[in-house]
Amino acid sequence: MKNKILVTGGAGYIGSHTCIALHQAGYEIVVYDNLSNSSREAINRVSHLIGAPIEFIKGDIRDAKALRQVFDAHQFFGVIHFAGLKAVGESVAKPLLYYNNNVSGTITLLEVMTEYDVKNLVFSSSATVYGDPETLPIDETAPRSCTNPYGQSKLTVEHILEDLAVSDTSWSLISLRYFNPVGAHPSGQIGEDPNDIPNNLMPYISQVAVGKLEKLSIFGNDYPTVDGTGVRDFIHVTDLAQGHVSALNYLDKQLSLNEGDTTQQNSVGFLPINLGTGKGTSVLELVSAFSEVSRQAIPYQFTGRRAGDIASCYASVSSAKDLLGWEAKLSITDMCQDTWRWQIANPNGYN
Ligand code: NAD
Ligand code: UD1
Repeated sequence: MKNKILVTGGAGYIGSHTCIALHQAGYEIVVYDNLSNSSREAINRVSHLIGAPIEFIKGDIRDAKALRQVFDAHQFFGVIHFAGLKAVGESVAKPLLYYNNNVSGTITLLEVMTEYDVKNLVFSSSATVYGDPETLPIDETAPRSCTNPYGQSKLTVEHILEDLAVSDTSWSLISLRYFNPVGAHPSGQIGEDPNDIPNNLMPYISQVAVGKLEKLSIFGNDYPTVDGTGVRDFIHVTDLAQGHVSALNYLDKQLSLNEGDTTQQNSVGFLPINLGTGKGTSVLELVSAFSEVSRQAIPYQFTGRRAGDIASCYASVSSAKDLLGWEAKLSITDMCQDTWRWQIANPNGYN
């Protein structure tokens, strides 16, 4: 089946939005997730939104036996691999957990894919692999380095994918480097549901706006930026979801070129692509936009810089545009509006 896709981590924040985009684009999906950082309810809501049941399998990517059962039951065109742990602070405290889950888990998945000759993968990488960038906007050839185990786990997987592509040219391995995903589905039914007090800016702001948290701490106002606060490339999660559809469509198109001609190699090897808007927004600009949309005051205080933070980060988006024909469409206002809709409709997330 050319349109059947295994979505690991598909119950999570980005995965759930991508399931909707994949279904709408005509892909058939099977979700595989251990629910370690997500809820079955997200899948129920995705099912409701698309008006069709979703095949969901509760399982761990480190469990080769369980994965084999899934590959025995389905013939996949490829895998979109979201499954992973993502909290930077937790990764510093529990590095073995992060390397085991994100690196060993990916190796197990790749081994099973090899056994079943499924050699198309879209991997969730991150702008974190660029470390502190020397030049802006950041393009895919920029040097890579990481300062924490979470980032290292993403970078290590990228190195593994590169080596794999060299060892066997029939692999197509697209590494999508996400900038800062925010926002929620416009229905307000699915969104980001942090387990604890959020580490990331947008969910923190929205919990202050709804009155769950008292005030935002802004980590540093002495950066060499427009207003001294950090600058990031925030991207709406539904735009990001669409980027995955474009990546699969690209793979399908490339692999179909010269079909039947065994002298031609059409796989794409290892291909890193940034998914961002190409525009930087400062922390204070985001606070102001959110306050305007929600019509709520967002109290804040300036505190010291957060360890490991960089001043500015935004993407060069020309590869995504030229190769995938994909571009982010939604604005900062859209991102705030959709986050706010999700927040007020679900003050306690999926619980
Ligand atoms: P998320 O935590 O909401 O989703 C990840 C999903 O993977 C969860 O549903 C979790 O239960 C599942 N999972 C984790 N370990 C698993 C395992 N061993 N086996 C099976 N399932 C497992 O996170 P997200 O924000 O949707 O991120 C998706 C991917 O994108 C992650 O790999 C993350 O590192 C990467 N990423 C996220 C961001 C971001 O800001 N959200 C930025 C860059 C990259
Ligand atoms: C963080 C992670 C990065 C990960 C990304 C997406 C760190 C050092 N980096 O990136 O590895 O890929 O999330 O999950 O954790 N801010 C505040 N107050 C807050 C929260 C954030 O001022 O309460 C500021 C930060 O200093 C930064 C900006 O807001 O300038 C964005 O922060 P955040 O949303 O955490 O994303 P990143 O730091 O870009």
